[in-house]
Amino acid sequence: MPNTRVTHFKPSAAHVAIIMDGNGRWATRRGLPRLAGHKRGVERVREVVEACPELGVTHLTLYAFSTENWKRAEDEVAGLMRLFRWYIRKEAAKLVEAGVRLRFIGNRSRLDEGLQKLMASVEDMTRENTRLNMTVAIDYGGRDEIIRATERMIDAADAGELKRSCLDEDTISRFMDTGGLPDPDLVLRTSGEVRISNFLLWQAAYAEYNFLDICWPDFTAETLSHCLENYNSRERRFGAVMG
Ligand code: FPP
Repeated sequence: MPNTRVTHFKPSAAHVAIIMDGNGRWATRRGLPRLAGHKRGVERVREVVEACPELGVTHLTLYAFSTENWKRAEDEVAGLMRLFRWYIRKEAAKLVEAGVRLRFIGNRSRLDEGLQKLMASVEDMTRENTRLNMTVAIDYGGRDEIIRATERMIDAADAGELKRSCLDEDTISRFMDTGGLPDPDLVLRTSGEVRISNFLLWQAAYAEYNFLDICWPDFTAETLSHCLENYNSRERRFGAVMG
């Protein structure tokens, strides 16, 4: 019989995934346009990326634009796309220097060609880096990703590369946009909203969650450090009985 009793399991969170919410509210409360909140949000991204390696975080996944975000006002969507382009152009060289590998998940085909090229080029430039694995979700939805993975599996099966008897959790994970990346240990969401909004539906099955009352533009490296301390005080049992 398999031994289902596991001992106390308290690793530090190596993979942190963040739903960066509340940029719009942060700006509106200050009488600023919503885009000012997103700009401040990018500054927080830089701060958090810098802090991760010192805090023992090896993987950081950020939810930057959901499949639902296309429904926003045209000027806000255009502003966000401009910010993504600006971030990649401005940060690419620094990411290389800092040892950060940047990857994107999501449906790229609906993004403009210029942005798609920039994304591919920064992925290429940072391919050899190992200090921090950063993944940015753009035009991403968990259900949409499951459809993409299923299509890839059907294609592989048609090509004779995937057999029904090989279908298990690891195989499905490999076909997701995040194939090859570990599952998140800790998922954070800012802004006080308590929902997962279609983020990493498959991957976060056993993740710990932490919902924070502050908006993303107020999230600092210190906030991340507190969240990790809180995570370290929790017990993760993965459905098993405590030893
Ligand atoms: C949610 O806040 C945030 C977004 C839809 C955009 C997140 C993007 C960034 C932080 C900047 C870009 C990131 C990278 C990696 C370059 P909201 O607008 O839904 O806030 P609200 O709920 O208060 O309206």
